[in-house]
Amino acid sequence: MRIVVTGGAGFLGSRLIEALLGAKTSPDSIVCLDRVECPVKDARIESMIGSIDDEKAIAAALGEGADRVYHLAAVLSGQSEEEFDTGLHINVDATRLLLEGCRALKTAPRFIYTSSLAVFGGPMPEVVPETLARLPQSSYGVGKAIGELLVGEYSRKGFVDGMVCRLPTITVRPGKPNSAASSFVSGIIREPMNGEESACPVPLDTRLWISSPDIVIANLVHAGEIDTGALGLNRVLDMPGITVTAGEMLLSLEKIGGRDARDRVALTNEQRIIDIVCSWPGAFDVSRATSLGFVADSDFDAIVRQYKAALMAS
Ligand SMILES: NC(=O)c1ccc[n+]([C@@H]2O[C@H](COP(=O)([O-])OP(=O)(O)OC[C@H]3O[C@@H](n4cnc5c(N)ncnc54)[C@H](O)[C@@H]3O)[C@@H](O)[C@H]2O)c1
Repeated sequence: MRIVVTGGAGFLGSRLIEALLGAKTSPDSIVCLDRVECPVKDARIESMIGSIDDEKAIAAALGEGADRVYHLAAVLSGQSEEEFDTGLHINVDATRLLLEGCRALKTAPRFIYTSSLAVFGGPMPEVVPETLARLPQSSYGVGKAIGELLVGEYSRKGFVDGMVCRLPTITVRPGKPNSAASSFVSGIIREPMNGEESACPVPLDTRLWISSPDIVIANLVHAGEIDTGALGLNRVLDMPGITVTAGEMLLSLEKIGGRDARDRVALTNEQRIIDIVCSWPGAFDVSRATSLGFVADSDFDAIVRQYKAALMAS
């Protein structure tokens, strides 16, 4: 089995590749198509440096016939908002180009697309049902909404066997802050636990729909293995998550990291971030995903403990 992972050098992509290498249907080869070198090293990995807006790079990555494609490469929310043309070009035009590359294979590979809760916005019920219309309030959300529709349409036509995994916001993400508007969702735990100052740019009662990296990766591997016949007409699945407020996250930080860690987080109000993040839903009805075997974290304390344990072990 040949698996292609676009954006495979990124935070989720590199973890996904590691997990796929150890999965029960272990692949013969994994192609990582990214603008930078794949950090995971294994004889089965082929690291291709290139862009997903390059038809030749796509053809080389798909080769004679990829069985499964994970499309993770994207311009994230903060950059998409500031660089309108770049965001839509990579998130929409290049996604279509990749789908066209898959179509040309004529084997309808499994195509797993990582979408986001940013496809929603405007007035929303407390718990978002599967049937809620998309109303994105950011360029990133618009790009993801169009990507979702394209995956659905290419699946309807039988060009790919598509599945859209709408991911919660992932925390705690190790490393440095990134260009996502939601970067603080990791930053308010990671930085203070590392002894550094951090800022919470949204009101404390802001509800966030989140997942740990481990759970998201387990769900993406599962997405490659399930029978898509169970999805019916709707190829989009809201991935399970848990709801926490920014204030509850800081309480967990204090409980597990101590008062000093909590005191390192300043409360700031940043309108640019509030406008994007506060337009996102805080909870979803994920009964369909759950019935298909997708899983969620138990609670936020467990996620912070997981991060603390990893920090102590490093
Ligand atoms: N992390 C989250 O909280 C979250 C939540 C919802 C959805 N997602 C989605 O999951 C996917 C992965 O997110 P991540 O957090 O790992 O992001 P990331 O920025 O860590 O990784 C993205 C990778 O894509 C690569 N890339 C960007 N443009 C490219 C291009 N033109 N050609 C080839 N490679 C390119 C980057 O070099 C990077 O390695 C994205 O599609 C993102 O929208 C992430």
